[in-house]
Amino acid sequence: MFYNEWILSNDEYDHDRRQSRNALFTIGNGYLGIRGFFEEDEVTLESNGGIYMAGVTGRGTYDAWEGKSGELCNMPNIFRVSLRCGGERVDGFSSISDFKQTLNMQKASYSRQYIWTTSQGSRIEVAFERFAGAADIPKIGQRIIVKALDPVDLSLSALLDSNVTNLNADSFATPRPVQPGRNHFVKRNVKTSSLSVILDDPDSTVLYFAQQATAKVNGNPVAKKDFISDNACGAIYDCSLKAGDILTVEKVIYVASSLDDDVDAAQAVAGFLSGDVGFEQEFRAHCTAWLSAWETANIKIDTDTNDDAALRYNIFELLCVCPRHTDRVGIGARGLTGEMYEGCIFWDNEIFVLPFFQYTNPQVVRKQLTFRYHTLDAARRHAKRNWFEGAMYPWQVNNKGIEQTPYECGAFYAIHIVADIAFAVCRYWEVTGDDEFMVSYGTEILYETARFWRSRCDFSELDGKYHIRAVRGPNEYDVYVNNNAYTNYMAANNLRSVKQVFDNLSGSHPKEIERLMNKLGATRQEIDLFNEIADKIIIPYDEKKGLILEDDTYTQRRSLDLKRAKPTGQRIIDSTMPYEALPLYQVTKQADTVLLCCLYPNDFTQQQKKNVYFYYEPRTAHDSSLSYAPHAILSSQIGLKEEAYGYFEKSAYLDISDRQLNTISGLHFANFGGTWQAVFHGFCGISDDHGKVSIKPSLPDKWNRVTLNCFMYGSVLQITIDKSSVVVHKKKSGPNPLIVRIEGGDYLVGGEPLRVTLGERL
Ligand code: BGC
Repeated sequence: MFYNEWILSNDEYDHDRRQSRNALFTIGNGYLGIRGFFEEDEVTLESNGGIYMAGVTGRGTYDAWEGKSGELCNMPNIFRVSLRCGGERVDGFSSISDFKQTLNMQKASYSRQYIWTTSQGSRIEVAFERFAGAADIPKIGQRIIVKALDPVDLSLSALLDSNVTNLNADSFATPRPVQPGRNHFVKRNVKTSSLSVILDDPDSTVLYFAQQATAKVNGNPVAKKDFISDNACGAIYDCSLKAGDILTVEKVIYVASSLDDDVDAAQAVAGFLSGDVGFEQEFRAHCTAWLSAWETANIKIDTDTNDDAALRYNIFELLCVCPRHTDRVGIGARGLTGEMYEGCIFWDNEIFVLPFFQYTNPQVVRKQLTFRYHTLDAARRHAKRNWFEGAMYPWQVNNKGIEQTPYECGAFYAIHIVADIAFAVCRYWEVTGDDEFMVSYGTEILYETARFWRSRCDFSELDGKYHIRAVRGPNEYDVYVNNNAYTNYMAANNLRSVKQVFDNLSGSHPKEIERLMNKLGATRQEIDLFNEIADKIIIPYDEKKGLILEDDTYTQRRSLDLKRAKPTGQRIIDSTMPYEALPLYQVTKQADTVLLCCLYPNDFTQQQKKNVYFYYEPRTAHDSSLSYAPHAILSSQIGLKEEAYGYFEKSAYLDISDRQLNTISGLHFANFGGTWQAVFHGFCGISDDHGKVSIKPSLPDKWNRVTLNCFMYGSVLQITIDKSSVVVHKKKSGPNPLIVRIEGGDYLVGGEPLRVTLGERL
């Protein structure tokens, strides 16, 4: 892999790792995710491409909690190219040299090139480039350049092809030949430059695809022949080239669906086909949109390592998946990059991904939490069917908020998601002060989730405490436990948040709050009860050791020899033990109490954090991609610089190096957000602390300087940290004066950049 500031590229063609690299080179615009598949595949399994659309799922195969599951649906291959050179099929891999695939993260484009040699020894240089329009979201661009190195006859078809199936490559095993999945289209309507398909889903969703293409040889137009079949349509270009001649085909594709907000998709497609579009003009607008996205999102690390580009890659994919255009879809655990988890949304979003947007583009967080508000009724139904009250946000949901975990596979226990969503609502409000969001959506979410906890907690006469029994905490290897500290702590804060919000907003927004209380049947007594329960929820703790206990029985279990249980990189449950054996042992699948300390950095002392880290870290298998980043953050905060850097590396390069051998099934978005947090909260030590910005940096030895931007309390700050100083520059002023706390000193940030020399006050 080659890295430079804005480039990630690979010049080794490895057939076995092709599908996994396809995932790695995904581009997207929040509407579509497009894997880095080869355009010219026609006959192999890879010909299925790999394009996913936010919120579009076909009928799945197993029983979920409200009918059948959904299956993230592979879209028609809008980039299909059939290329013949001297009558021979160019497949892009069997007879190539000088292969290279490149992600340009600044322009958000993906390109691939190689030299192809025919059986007669004639050579052509082939290059593809594509982008998923960020300026005008449904517009996608493709450019194909073929340069003749010897005289050749060429035939190139640029098609839209609905003859695809799902990739079905969601295996944890090493890459292997896979059987194709399902084709989800029940009806097709194919015209010369457009096609529409009807999806096999309960809504009979209609998807539309249209293209405008042009072809030129050395700048002179090439005549087009129309192609149309039952499944596909497009344009065919035939030409004879002399050595040095260049054929350029440019295509702009328009994608729309009957699910789009406020758009008549069929009309929009007709408008596109009769309009004036061109690859160059669309690409220019797209690049400008990305420049502005990078303005606050970019982090620059001055280092001799590849960390600068690797971190940028993590951020790049977060920007690609971000649905800025709507509040009707959530960000799935694997985004729009693969079929694992069927595009479903988990706690990954609120706890790992949203903090990145919180500090770089808070509007996105508002939209994502509004998405959760839109699914509040589904959460109410879920609570009711499980005999609870309020709203029980399901563990793994589709875009309608319906539980997609197969029935009887743990969704009943995995309830920390409820408090995780409430946590994100409170964090959003704290950092942005968006009262309007709170009165319209946030307060209702907090009230109904608090009600759920009220009905889910059990009071014990024996100790006068509330217990939360039969739960699955972040450590899923517990199967289920009583009183998972993470769950209980988060639930207590969820319950407490209601009074805080009502006390705060009743004065400023009395009418809205009264209306809300009427709507919810809320009472002051119930709010007080929430607080009483919160104060009495048990948080398992060993006073003598000063140690937060993961749950009621963790420390009483057998210890596990992790070297024996996990001899290779494979997960324990994929290599040495069945799932049901694990509750016998003290083994933590992924950061649990470690994560709790990261989420509430000011609630625990340094000693408590150290105790947690030193106790649980050796017992943690890291059998989830959600584990490395919290370990990087906490180890950094307790001064373990080497450990912190080691965990950062594991997190930042997780998909680049396919560390868990499952990148093939999609990229890991929680981990991307976690990598960002490891830098922001961990190494840079930045947090918002009750109205002040706290900065406690501890840069890795291999880094000289970090420069980043962030939104804080309505201001936009540029923060530069090196080994000896912190510089804070207010680029945009918020409504209130901004205080920055560095090494115990409070500084007011005004118009001039603030420079603080580190070590001076210590
Ligand atoms: C993790 C969960 C996570 C899910 C989706 C699982 O392996 O244990 O915490 O939410 O993957 O990423």
